[in-house]
Amino acid sequence: MSLKEQVLRILTERRGEAVSGQWLADQFHVSRAAVWKVIRALKEDGHFIQAGQNRGYTLLPNSDVLSVTAIAPLLLPPLRSELLTIVSQCSCTNDLARQLAIQSAPAGSSVLADTQTNGRGRQRRSFYSPPGGLYLSMLLRPSLSMQESTFLTIAAAVAVCRAVKKICNIPLEIKWVNDLFLNGKKVGGILTEAVTDLEGDTFEYAIVGIGLNIFFREAIPDELASIVTSLYDIEPDGAIRCQLTAAILNELYQLEQNPCSSLKEYRALNFVPGRKIQIISGIRTGTAKALSITDQGQLLVEYPDHTQITLNGGEIQIMDIV
Ligand code: BTN
Repeated sequence: MSLKEQVLRILTERRGEAVSGQWLADQFHVSRAAVWKVIRALKEDGHFIQAGQNRGYTLLPNSDVLSVTAIAPLLLPPLRSELLTIVSQCSCTNDLARQLAIQSAPAGSSVLADTQTNGRGRQRRSFYSPPGGLYLSMLLRPSLSMQESTFLTIAAAVAVCRAVKKICNIPLEIKWVNDLFLNGKKVGGILTEAVTDLEGDTFEYAIVGIGLNIFFREAIPDELASIVTSLYDIEPDGAIRCQLTAAILNELYQLEQNPCSSLKEYRALNFVPGRKIQIISGIRTGTAKALSITDQGQLLVEYPDHTQITLNGGEIQIMDIV
């Protein structure tokens, strides 16, 4: 571990407390000037560190830079620091995860980014990915049949809801199939992409990408303002983003070991059954009533002429929300 990482680890463990520069220098057998240099480098990386005259260095409560130092100690085995790739900006974390897959990276390898320049959603939509959000992709090598692929998304949605409840005590809801909602607005989404072996009806690998709006540091575009929200209206203290990231990775990896088992919880968190919906894309567009989520994770709907069909994917809108 480099001196920079060691100093950050100590400051993180004693977040909010002043840690003396001399003490840090003695601890790592380096000069005070060397400590000062790494503090400057950490500040350049975006960590909020207060330096008080003769009082030492304090990592402030709202300092929340994604770092292996902050996240790795919170991971549950087999997840570990070597499986994390953290970048400040990238085009799309799913694409970076795909590169890892091609290089034979193990399941659980994850890419985290502060921002994405070309974030993607389902249906070829773009996913707005400004600073202050959480954008991550995990590589999985599931032993599922292709018909069961929806369960990867289902397990991921449940993983995010569990993690957000645990860390933020905020109850999210799910809009079939991959949208995360808070107070009637979209707060996040999931994009699952896979490479399959058609002959074997199995996955070579899958990538589960999760985007979650934690706090918007800047005003969001007008066209999104009425349909999108964030977990917090003001910047939260307590390194929420790092804690949430670790909790989501832990829940995600564990649930993805047996994704079909998430269905009961997914149904309970889903607010679509019973609602009047507009089917925007899919085999038959138009208005319908959402009846239930089937054992395969499809949405069973009934049209005004009483025809019932199951939707595998496609896009729906809740009539009384959007
Ligand atoms: C959707 O709303 O349709 C899905 C959004 C998925 C966004 C996440 S953010 C991390 C990963 N990278 C992407 O470009 N998309 C997913």
